[in-house]
Amino acid sequence: MAEFTSKIRTIEWIDTYSRMVDQTKFPEHFEYIDITTGQDMYNAIKTMIVRGAPAIGIAGAHGVILYAQELEKQNLPHNDFIKQLLEKADYMASARPTAVNLMWAVEKQKEIIRNSTSDIKTLIEELKANGKKLELEDIEINKKIGDYGASVVPKGATILTHCNAGALATVGYGTALGVVRSAFAKDPSVQVFADETRPRQQGARITTLELTMDGIPVTLITDGMCSYFMKKGMIDMVCVGADRIAANGDAANKIGTYTVAIAAKYHNIPFYVAAPLSTIDTTIKSGDDIVIEERSHDEVTHINGKPVCAEGVKVLNPGFDVTPHELITGIITEKGILKPDYNKSIMEAFKL
Ligand code: MRU
Repeated sequence: MAEFTSKIRTIEWIDTYSRMVDQTKFPEHFEYIDITTGQDMYNAIKTMIVRGAPAIGIAGAHGVILYAQELEKQNLPHNDFIKQLLEKADYMASARPTAVNLMWAVEKQKEIIRNSTSDIKTLIEELKANGKKLELEDIEINKKIGDYGASVVPKGATILTHCNAGALATVGYGTALGVVRSAFAKDPSVQVFADETRPRQQGARITTLELTMDGIPVTLITDGMCSYFMKKGMIDMVCVGADRIAANGDAANKIGTYTVAIAAKYHNIPFYVAAPLSTIDTTIKSGDDIVIEERSHDEVTHINGKPVCAEGVKVLNPGFDVTPHELITGIITEKGILKPDYNKSIMEAFKL
């Protein structure tokens, strides 16, 4: 397996707390923050100290352990402990609504809580072990996604990406940027064009940072420039992550992704979504059922704390959009590259 090692470890459980990179400080500072309470973890997810679908999944799993540790100190009867912990887990899963990995990882912890026959101390150890397992699996899955994805990257390709689906959106390595890392390991002439990704600028603040740290060539463009460069023949492929994929292949990702997909289709450029199976929500038929997070209007009216518009102007700020499956060339997963008809290929992938 061709593999490009990234040193970035975005989130990690350490003994009794969760350590994560504080992504609100980029690009000026690369700092870690230790999260020691369940409520602080909820806030860290909500305020995007940790962000990116797989990373917030792991954060949610860690948050359940933090709540378990807090409840243990209250010396509750066993049944009350279980009941309250399950309620806290549901609260943790509600920190952000779109990325299904959060609900998925919290559900993995809830299964352990519901099925436990052990005493509380042992149950907490089981939750910690499961958290660690999910962390390590995430990196392994991303490397597999990277390897499959690299097989469809043309020689010397320029890959356009939107938002950040990198090591910093996962435990490490990344999904869309995992594809870039694996492709770059085989062919160092591969390069990336990163959309700025307004309003929160994950492309500018995070993608350019992590690729530069790893020595992978990256060019920053603003969101509206993508079709200009596509027309000029300067983009060979698009690869993005996803926050939730419906059973029919419709894929929610950072707002602006849909526009990129339409532009790619018009210019005949392959458009790939890279995501683990944990991002696929087979309980929903199509993207119409995906809840789209509406975020603070300040993100649109201000850049770096400074207003960029008339005071009091009306604003809308959906955090994500849904790219219809017709625009997606393939979904790169740890089980291979899924192709249309997605209803079929997704179901097949879950059986592998
Ligand atoms: O709002 P964010 O920064 O959490 O949004 C992140 C994205 O949209 C990513 O592309 C997606 O979560 C995939 S991360 C591997």
